[in-house]
Amino acid sequence: MPNTRRDFLRYVGIAGGAGVMYGTMSAMGLAPAAAETPAYTAPNAGDLRGRGRKSVAVLGGGIAGLTAAYELGKAGYKVTVLEARNRPGGRNWTVRGGTSETDLKGISQTAKFTKGEYMNAGPGRIPQHHVTLDYCRELGVAIEPFVNQNADAYLYREGSTALSNTAVRHRAAKADVYGYVSELLAKATDQGSLDGYLTAADKEALMSFLSSFGAIGPKVSGDAAASYKYTGTGRRGYEVEPGAGLEAGTPLPPYPLSDVLASGVGNYFSFEFGWDQAMMMFQPVGGMDRIPYAFEKAIGLDKIKYGAKVLDLRNTPAGVEVAYTNPGGQSKVLEADFAICALPPHIAAKVPGNLSAEAVAALAYAQPADAGKIGIEYSRRWWELDHRIYGGITNTTTGLGNMWYPSSGFHGERGTMIGYYNTGASARTYGAMKPAGRLASALEKGAQIHGPVYGQDVASSFSVDWKNVEHSEGAWVGWPSQTDDSYKRLLEPEGNIYFAGDHLSHAIAWQHGAMVSARASVTALHSRVMAA
Ligand code: ALA
Repeated sequence: MPNTRRDFLRYVGIAGGAGVMYGTMSAMGLAPAAAETPAYTAPNAGDLRGRGRKSVAVLGGGIAGLTAAYELGKAGYKVTVLEARNRPGGRNWTVRGGTSETDLKGISQTAKFTKGEYMNAGPGRIPQHHVTLDYCRELGVAIEPFVNQNADAYLYREGSTALSNTAVRHRAAKADVYGYVSELLAKATDQGSLDGYLTAADKEALMSFLSSFGAIGPKVSGDAAASYKYTGTGRRGYEVEPGAGLEAGTPLPPYPLSDVLASGVGNYFSFEFGWDQAMMMFQPVGGMDRIPYAFEKAIGLDKIKYGAKVLDLRNTPAGVEVAYTNPGGQSKVLEADFAICALPPHIAAKVPGNLSAEAVAALAYAQPADAGKIGIEYSRRWWELDHRIYGGITNTTTGLGNMWYPSSGFHGERGTMIGYYNTGASARTYGAMKPAGRLASALEKGAQIHGPVYGQDVASSFSVDWKNVEHSEGAWVGWPSQTDDSYKRLLEPEGNIYFAGDHLSHAIAWQHGAMVSARASVTALHSRVMAA
C-alpha cells in the first residue's frame, strides 16, 4: 500500500497513465487546474491482439457517434456508422450556398449564400478547455478566434424605462453598472455599514479595488454624498474621441443611476463569465462542419453508411442486430458484437426493438429544447463600416435573442450575420413562421437596433428551426433530473448496447459533451472486451 503522497501518485501513474496522475495531483492541490478535462486513455491499437476483431455498430454520425467510431477504429475495432442523413455531424451543420433542406413541416429552403459564405446552423463556438479543440488539433482542423464578447456590440432591452428600446453599447452599460455599484459599495464601506464583515485591512483592499473597478472619485472630506462619486469615464465611449494634438476627447456622459438599474442591462454581464462562454473562444476556419468531415476522413468513408435510417435495434445472444433502411428503401440488417446508440434520446426512444421498457422510458425522459437561427448574408459589411463592430454579439430581448457578427472575413466585401439565435418561446414564434416571414421580422427588429442599414444590402438568408429538423427534432435536450435512476440507467449498457451523446454529460449542447460521453462509452466497452 502506498504510504506517502509521492508513493500514492506513483501508484496512480502506473495504473492510469500520466493524465490520471496529473488529474490526481490537481485534486490534491499539487498541480494547476488546467488538467481538469476528464481523463481519458484511448484504447491501444495492440489491445485486441489475440481477442479477435470485435465489431461495433454506431448508430448516428453526429459528434458522439463519430468520436466513438474514431476512437474504436484507432484500436482496431471493426466499426460501422449508420447515419440517416447524407452528411456527417448531426447538429453540427454548416449551411453553404446550395445546401437544401426540407423540415418536418415540409418547408424547403435552398441556401443561396455566395461562395465562401456560410452559417453554422448548430454549434458555433468552442471554449478553450473543451476536448473539441484537442480533436481539432489531432485531426488537423484549423481554428480561428470566435468573438463571443465585444465591448462595442449592443444590449437592447424592450420596455418602458428610460434606457428601454435603445441600443446601448456593452462598454457603456458596463462602465455605468460597475461605476454605480462601486460608488454605492464604497460609500457603505466608508460609512461603516460592513464593519461586521470586514477588517480594517479588508476595507482598505476593497476600497482600492472599487476605485479601480468602478472608476469612482475620491473621498470628499465631510461630504458623504459627494464621496466616491461615479461621474462617468472614457471607458464608456466618447462624444468626441481623443485625437491629435490638444484633442483630449469628450467622454459621453453616464446614464443616471436609476435608469441604469431599471434597464436591467447589467443582468446580461454574467454570460461572459460562464465556464463555457468566457473568452477566448474558437471556431474552425471555414465552418464548424470541418470537424465532422475530418472525422469522416479519419474513420474512413467506407465505414460510414449515409442515408441509413435505423428501423430496429435489438440485443441478441451473440451481440446486436440493427435493421436499417438505405435511401433506395431496401432494408438491411447489420450484426455486430456491440452497438453504441448515439441517436438523440427522444429519437432513440421511438426505435422499435427489444430495449427494456425502463431503458425506453429513460430515453423518453429527455425533453427536447427549441432553438432557432437565421443566417443573413450582406453584400456590405455595414457593422464594420458604420458601427465599427468587428465580431461579437448583440443581445436583445426583442425575440431575436442573440445576433452574431461574423468572426472571420474582416474587411471583406460581404459577410453573414446570425440575425437571430433564440431559444424557448422566441424560437417557437420564429419557428412557426415561413422563412420569408422570419427574415422580414428579423430585418424589422434588427433595424430597431442598427438603423435602416439593417434592411439594406441583404443578399440571401437561411433559417433553421431545430424542433422541426428531421433526425434531430430539437436543438438539445434537458432532463427533469440528472441525478435520478432514469438518467443513470443510460450511463450503463443495456446488454450489448451502449448509449452516448451530449445528453449523457454535464456539457449538454456542446460538442465537448458528446465527445466525453462517447469516450466514456468507448472506455466501458473496451474494458469489458479486455476483461472477457
Ligand atoms: N452551447 C450552445 C451555445 O453556445 C448552447 O450557444
